[in-house]
Amino acid sequence: MTTSADLIAKAQQYYLPIYRQREVILDRGQGARVWDSEGRDYVDFSAGIAVCGLGHADPDLLAALNEQAGKIWHTSNVFHSEPPLRLAEELVAASRFASRVFLCNSGAEANEAAIKLVRKYAASQGRTPDKRVIVTFRGSFHGRTLAAVTATAQPKYQEGYEPLPPGFRYVDFNDITQLEIAMAAGDVAAVMLEPVQGEGGVMPAAPGFLSAVRELCDHHGALLVLDEIQSGMGRTGTLFAHWQDGVKPDIVTLAKALGGGFPIGAMLAGPKVAEVMQFGAHGTTFGGNPLAAAVARVALRKLSSPAIANNVSRQSNALRAALTKIDAELGLFAQVRGRGLMLGAVLKPAYAGRAGEILDHAAAHGLLMLQAGPDVLRFVPPLNLTDAELTEGCARLHAALKVFAGRG
Ligand SMILES: Cc1ncc(COP(=O)(O)O)c(C=O)c1O
Repeated sequence: MTTSADLIAKAQQYYLPIYRQREVILDRGQGARVWDSEGRDYVDFSAGIAVCGLGHADPDLLAALNEQAGKIWHTSNVFHSEPPLRLAEELVAASRFASRVFLCNSGAEANEAAIKLVRKYAASQGRTPDKRVIVTFRGSFHGRTLAAVTATAQPKYQEGYEPLPPGFRYVDFNDITQLEIAMAAGDVAAVMLEPVQGEGGVMPAAPGFLSAVRELCDHHGALLVLDEIQSGMGRTGTLFAHWQDGVKPDIVTLAKALGGGFPIGAMLAGPKVAEVMQFGAHGTTFGGNPLAAAVARVALRKLSSPAIANNVSRQSNALRAALTKIDAELGLFAQVRGRGLMLGAVLKPAYAGRAGEILDHAAAHGLLMLQAGPDVLRFVPPLNLTDAELTEGCARLHAALKVFAGRG
């Protein structure tokens, strides 16, 4: 009989050793619960890194997948199929700004397309290559392809991959003065940022920051690119996080929860840039795959609903209250920050660097969680999280943190 230990040993033998998975084999899921191959159950506050916005095994996603699976799986972009055509129309309508969509397979690929579109637009405006700089922010995360990782202003993701593509400049997040200085020379073609930095520590844009960035972009003829790959699809309480900041972007990237667990990404292009890439300018084999698009249409419809927005706001308050209560007893957190169901608990300096250890305790207590860097616990549960799942998850977190703090 193959045990889970045997299977995990295969990962150690055959995978490129780039991950540090927890030592369980997840087998099935339902809502915000998952079970491992040995029958243990977990509350899932990680949602596959903010992907499973509707939890696991949502019946409507399953029905869409099954129905499409019986029709046609793949056509490539040499031919049409109905699901991506409809999804493109629905994304344009939902976005309130875009006029065209590029469908792809992941977040990095969506950002790569955005970076290429920025450059192509700049070229069409007569900007020479030295005047096509893209400014991004320290602490950002935009993906792992070479251009996306260069946009990711965190040296730990870039080291050893030099030479990196040129034309990127970094400034501190939420520092409009630094941005002003970085744009002063007139060589900036775009500013690209996450409305709430995810991997970088669950750090929201300060009130008024996005609109100040928009104003600077307008002043310098630069594009505003918003990476909503983690913050979008309802996670912060509105379908797009930037709706809360009252700005209109030129380009928005999506992935993660767009497919509810089925890989898909999208780049949404506003009218200013939507006609710049013409036949042959870009492409992908799998992007707009009918299976992915059929599932994403249902995810988009459900994640746009008032019921989800209401639940995100209610459970966000409940989760914040639970974290505050736990902290009143254990005193581990310096701050709880974020928006909606994208929350981060920042560890006090005395516990700095120990988020990973807490995740091990959480898993041992039947709770799947994430960190955002070494000092921040990240909470990105399914957006349809029920009261019972939230209560159970917080009880398990409390128990795990008690053991971590030596009070268990
Ligand atoms: C904000 C943001 N952008 C881009 C990415 C990259 O997405 P993917 O891993 O699908 O390439 C991520 C992934 O964590 C992300 O959080």
